[in-house]
This record gives sequence, C-alpha cells and structure tokens, in this order.
Amino acid sequence: GCKALILAGGSGTRLWPYSRSLYPKQLLALTGERTLLQETVHRAMRGFAPEDIWVITNEEQVFEVRSQLRELDETLDTQVLTEPMRRNTLPAIMLGMEKASQDNPDALVAVFPSDHMIHKPELWLDALKRGTELARDGWFVTFGLVPDKPETGYGYIREGESLGQDCYKVGAFVEKPDYETALKYLESGEYLWNSGMFIFSVPAFIQAVEKYQPELYAWWKRRRTVPLAEGYTAIPDISVDYGIMENVKSQATVRADFGWDDLGSWEALHRMGVKDESGNVIQGDVLNLDCEDSLLLSRGGKLAAVEVNGLVVVQTRDATLVCPANKVQRVKDVVEKLKEEG
Ligand code: GDD
Ligand code: MG
Repeated sequence: GCKALILAGGSGTRLWPYSRSLYPKQLLALTGERTLLQETVHRAMRGFAPEDIWVITNEEQVFEVRSQLRELDETLDTQVLTEPMRRNTLPAIMLGMEKASQDNPDALVAVFPSDHMIHKPELWLDALKRGTELARDGWFVTFGLVPDKPETGYGYIREGESLGQDCYKVGAFVEKPDYETALKYLESGEYLWNSGMFIFSVPAFIQAVEKYQPELYAWWKRRRTVPLAEGYTAIPDISVDYGIMENVKSQATVRADFGWDDLGSWEALHRMGVKDESGNVIQGDVLNLDCEDSLLLSRGGKLAAVEVNGLVVVQTRDATLVCPANKVQRVKDVVEKLKEEG
C-alpha cells in the first residue's frame, strides 16, 4: 500500500502580514472556505483512507493543525505527528515516514506539501496513480510542471528518456538555481518545475539518507535511545530537495498539468482572486474610491484607498503592508528586517 504524508510545519514569510510564525500560509484560508492545509488533506482523502494519511508539524503549530483537521474529519485527530522544532523537510519526512509505515516497513510513501493549490484534482489523481506505479518499480518519483517564468524559488527537473505516458527519467534535479541558470533552463525547454510532491519506498529512502546524509543517518540509527527533542536539536536543518533529490540517481518524473499554483506571493493572490471591473481584488472592511488593479485586504479595521493603481495593501490588527504589486517579492526582506530588529 501507499501512505500519504503531508508536510505542514513550514514558516512561510512571503505573505506577511497575514502569515506569521504561528500562522504560516498553509494554515490560512486564502482562496475560499478551507485553509490550504484543509484543501490538501481533503484532496488526499480522494486517494487515501483517513488512517493512511499522516500530517507532520511542530509543537508551535500542532494545536491549530489538529483543530483544522478535526473540522474536516474527527478521525484525523490521531493522524498528526509533532516535531519538537523545525529542522526542514528531510528530518520531517524521516520521522513521518516511520510512523506512516509502522504496519508495513516496505510501504510506499507519497509526500505532499501543504502550501499550494491544485485546480484539477482529477488530473492530480491520475498523475498520482502513474507516480505510484513508478515508485513501485523502485524510482524516486517527482511531479514536474511546465515552467513559464525563470522562478528561482523552485526546484528544476531535467527530463531524460521517456518512460511512456508522460513519465520521464530525470537527468538532473537542481534546487533553487540562481536567476541566470533558471533563465537558461526555461529557454532550453528541457526542464520542469518540481511541484514539491514525491513518492518513494521507505527502505529506498532510508538507504539514500545513509548514502548522502551520513550525519542524519547516524541520528536515525540512534533515535530510539536518544530523546527526540535532544536528537532533533543536534541534527542539520536540510530540505529533502538539497539533501536527497539533488543526489539520488534512480529518479523519474510524471509531467503533470493539474492546475498547480504555489500561491507564493501577494501577486499570486491578486492573480487568482475574484476581480471587480477595475481589476481590484478586495476583501474585508475596505472602502475603495476609484482604485485600479490593486489588492486591498483588511482583517483588522477599516481600510480606505483612493485612486491607487497597482498597489498591494494588506491590513491586519497590528501590522500593515503597502507595496507596489510588482515589488511583492520584497516582502521577504520585510520579514528579514523585522527578525533582525527582534
Ligand atoms: N513538518 C514540517 N517541518 N514541515 C515543513 C518544515 C518542517 O521543518 N519545513 C517546511 N515544511 C513544509 C512546508 O509547510 C511546506 O508545506 C512544505 O514542507 C515545503 O516546504 P517549503 O519551505 O515551502 O519549500 P519550498 O517552497 O521552499 O520548496 C519546495 O517546494 C517547491 C514547490 O512549491 C521544494 O520542493 C521545491 O523544489 C519546489 O519547487
Ligand atoms: Mg513552499
């Protein structure tokens, strides 16, 4: 059988001031009634029984995560795993996959991030089936998306030899290349974006950790004799993309077109939101006087905007962002600065 492991412990900074350390992107309802985490779990329930779905987060967020899952399905309450602190996705996957495969150590595990949207879940389910077959044959499987800009925040997958039915061997996996490299990849037409979803077998994954991340493997071998919090403090903070996927050879990708959207910035929310006739996306207690192409959101008090054009204004009870729509990538600089200031 294949189990689902949903990663829900990231800290997300690009949607400040909505996303904070305690309320990262996946715990927010950005596009509808459900939060991104709830959307992810709901979608997973199309392909997996609730008892085969595991969600991993950290102590800081676990209370909110559990209450969001209970809203979807009471039985999910027991499917939440807690890390003592953030150590990025590789350690989270190792911890989660052990629990997920407790009844079958040879199980396949499908890993899902909880911070993106999928607009065509039927196509996603098809891709998942194909990916599961590949993983059963021993491949480390990713799901690749045709890129349309030189985005530097994603992983890039080079398509190799065809394995039939939109499946390809992977020539190379490159996590977050610099801008020049991303542009080169885009123009070559040979690369796909990594959607952040993976399928692999548990033994193959642990073998790869042993080979490429010996320090993590040493922790893993001793994990039952050392208290989790103690062991976790000492291990490296590393993502599965850098730690495993950039190294592993037997990799295959399913080229997919299931309406993936990372919702990585306020620009994405503006693009996806319901627009008025002047191109504005407006939510909350907002007074709009002749604004155009702007994103005007308030979750705290009245927001009045007059004849602004191409502006993002996001107001919360205790923080406000004002930023030109074409500069929203700089929101992460705001968060950096705020961290420095404490
Ligand atoms: N439990 C847990 N613990 N979850 C975590 C942790 C952690 O320490 N760190 C991150 N996550 C969760 C996030 O909440 C998110 O759902 C998922 O793991 C991916 O982490 P991100 O930090 O959002 O990764 P990224 O966006 O920089 O890059 C990944 O996703 C891209 C697509 O969105 C990579 O896989 C890229 O290659 C990929 O293109
Ligand atoms: Mg992400």
